[in-house]
Amino acid sequence: MDSFSTVIRTASHEQHVEAETSSFMSDLLGGRLGVDAYARYTEQLWFVYEALESGAGRLAADPVAGPFIQPELYRLGALERDLEHLRGADWRTGLTALPATQAYADRVRECVTEWPAGYIAHHYTRYLGDLSGGQIIRDKAERTWGFERKGDGVRFYVFEGIANPAAFKRGYRELLDGVRVDELEQQRIVTECKKAFALNTAVFRALGEEFPLSA
Ligand code: HEM
Repeated sequence: MDSFSTVIRTASHEQHVEAETSSFMSDLLGGRLGVDAYARYTEQLWFVYEALESGAGRLAADPVAGPFIQPELYRLGALERDLEHLRGADWRTGLTALPATQAYADRVRECVTEWPAGYIAHHYTRYLGDLSGGQIIRDKAERTWGFERKGDGVRFYVFEGIANPAAFKRGYRELLDGVRVDELEQQRIVTECKKAFALNTAVFRALGEEFPLSA
């Protein structure tokens, strides 16, 4: 039988391709969008990570989700520095969540309060992705909009507390494999992971509609 980390990875593969190749992401990685689109995207991430991290402390003692609560992953502080750079000191003033972002953040918060095992699906989808493909996005953003390498504007993608991302990801997969829930609950987590990808794709779709300049 496949390990849980393999099951969750395989099950979400198709949606990963869909997210990766969404028009907004393609335009972003293709260098076709202005820095305003990147800033708008970063703002949306703020709402998602606020939901992922603001109540996470409460989950630290949870037998299932607890081992995943690792402060070196936290992104909210880095996002706030990036937004200050991108939007200025009063970045909070114009900060708004797209309806798709609101729906995503609401679902994450629901898991935080009501379903810790489901929170793992959201945790995996974002943080393991940020540690992987996020590095490609950072590199592209630095080159397209001239941010200082690993500096303000792209700090979200820089995990200061993780010296060896490959090793960290191996450890993370071990954590997934050690999740002690029955098979049905495992399936529910996998389903939630697919939902997490779909929620991300919906945000990309909304951003694509706001910044439709792709060719
Ligand atoms: C253009 C955007 C993206 C690129 C280029 C990209 C690229 C990659 C790459 C190369 C990996 C493999 C890393 C490895 O095996 O160690 C990966 C893994 C991953 N990505 Fe993405 N990705 C993108 C977008 C996303 C998005 C939007 C999400 C979800 C929100 C996501 C979630 C993940 C996850 C969860 C993994 C870990 C899979 C696993 O090993 O279990 N990625 N990505």
